[in-house]
Amino acid sequence: MSRKLVVGNWKMHGSRAQVGELLEALKAGSARAQGVGVAVCPPFPYLAQAVGLLAGTDIGVGAQNLAVETAGAYTGEVSGEMLADVGCRYVIVGHSERRTLYGEDSALVARKYKAATEQGLVPILCVGEQLSEREAGTTEQVVAAQLDAVLDLCGEAALASALIAYEPVWAIGTGKVATPEQAQAVHAFIRGRVARGADTPTLLYGGSVKPDNAAGLFVQQDVDGGLIGGASLDADHFLAICEAARS
Ligand code: PGA
Repeated sequence: MSRKLVVGNWKMHGSRAQVGELLEALKAGSARAQGVGVAVCPPFPYLAQAVGLLAGTDIGVGAQNLAVETAGAYTGEVSGEMLADVGCRYVIVGHSERRTLYGEDSALVARKYKAATEQGLVPILCVGEQLSEREAGTTEQVVAAQLDAVLDLCGEAALASALIAYEPVWAIGTGKVATPEQAQAVHAFIRGRVARGADTPTLLYGGSVKPDNAAGLFVQQDVDGGLIGGASLDADHFLAICEAARS
């Protein structure tokens, strides 16, 4: 995997003014990310603004969630078709905050994954274990079950060249980044489980990636980029992480 991908997950942060400032700063500093795939995932209300501001650049836009359904009486939901319609390319599915705070189980995540692909979006499937699961030595079983839910619903080929983010839950927003060796080990496990022949997934690491630890992660053989939360809200930090993905 030569070209790395760095995706910013803004979570529930921002305002029209902040979105404008942050994206202008990313555009101005885009030389720092040369040769790296870059995308940002703002909250729903700012997606169209982001698509407009990033028109003509190489920076992609993604959403953080989608509904399973395409349209209909689903108050408060947003479909993949709508996301594609406003210019999104990506959508995050199965983020641990959706799984733990909003009760999304792996079966629902798989349905969202399927909906995203059917509606012309590239899903970023998030998987990862809780601290207790790592301590119990069950990381691989947990991640395998999360992957298998998608494989069972969408078929063996569905994940072969997918975009998958390994995000250990204990590393998200905690400042406790996985060591490069821990990330590499799980990434190698995921690749071994889903790659088929020449088709191989793009594997992002997420969880407390910062400018000072990004290079050590990105140099790992099976780490193809990052899904960046907190540090993606600061243009200089995000660009420094993109820079670390260049070598
Ligand atoms: P973090 O979040 O970089 O703030 O740990 C990563 C994520 O949740 O995608």
